[in-house]
Amino acid sequence: MPDSDDFWDFYWESHLLSMENLGKRAAILAASKLIRRLAQQTNQSVRLLELGCGEGQIIGTLVDAHSQLCNVYASVGVDHNAQSLAQCRRDYPGMRWVEGDFTDPDLLAGLGKFNLVLLVNALHEVFSAAYSPELGEVDVPVAKQRVAQALAGATGRLGPGGWLVLFDGLEPPGDPHQKRYIRFLNSQARDEFDTFAHQYRPFRISYREIGGPLSIELSQRDFTRYITKSIFLGKHLWETERLESYQYFTEEEFRELLARLGLELFELLTLTVNAEKWRYRVETDPSEAGFPQEHVLILAQLGLAKSQ
Ligand SMILES: C[S@@+](CC[C@H](N)C(=O)[O-])C[C@H]1O[C@@H](n2cnc3c(N)ncnc32)[C@H](O)[C@@H]1O
Repeated sequence: MPDSDDFWDFYWESHLLSMENLGKRAAILAASKLIRRLAQQTNQSVRLLELGCGEGQIIGTLVDAHSQLCNVYASVGVDHNAQSLAQCRRDYPGMRWVEGDFTDPDLLAGLGKFNLVLLVNALHEVFSAAYSPELGEVDVPVAKQRVAQALAGATGRLGPGGWLVLFDGLEPPGDPHQKRYIRFLNSQARDEFDTFAHQYRPFRISYREIGGPLSIELSQRDFTRYITKSIFLGKHLWETERLESYQYFTEEEFRELLARLGLELFELLTLTVNAEKWRYRVETDPSEAGFPQEHVLILAQLGLAKSQ
């Protein structure tokens, strides 16, 4: 297949049409570019690993598109969900699919080394899994440590000069306790907020009505969670979304951790694809401080000193 950027832009434009618009396209486009670059630079076929691969939409699509550049049989997807892996095996029979916990160092050690490791919408689940029934919330220090360990494990799978592509949620900067004010546009939006506040598990959501049921005050932390989860309210996906905090690290925390792991940051992009979807529900005050940059896309390379 041709390797010009124009060709691939067109290819992905048409092949990703059916993919949910949750920002994952950005990860696929970035990984596709890296695969082409790596194949050209090393003149060897590229080995891909995806941790938390789900139904294989990301790694399977990439390996399919770049089957001439990737080592299909040596590319691996890992997930602990047996049903998802069964789907992977049906859709992408040539690849290796491993059922297990990608935070388990023994499992990781048995996989070998890779040119490209993908972590797409997976680490926030590691964070959310540190929910403590005793606390009634995610145990944040433990959760952050588990994410850091998982990222260290992923980094350990990179061969010399290997690349990490990480796509996930982003905690906005600033004081999480800072007060935010929102006004619901109608009583249905307020009812949906109540559902959110009662059913969202990772953190207890606190708020205070101001002068009536349609205006409330809440913290920046809870506001971020409400506004980013609001797109799932009333939908089937809410049943799983309510269990997960999409946010866990700020940009600064990501940068610090990558540096600690010996990863050289090539690109850190923050983006949102849902900026307009909540405006029929609420107004915010101040109005310009609306929907946060909800996703982060990170491309980082293992520094040569670390990969010896
Ligand atoms: C939101 S899905 C994303 C799937 C895929 N990366 C994509 O973007 O299409 C997250 C996946 O990570 C898996 N996962 C979460 N924590 C895991 C862990 N500790 N070990 C293995 N898989 C895990 C879940 O089972 C789920 O399939």
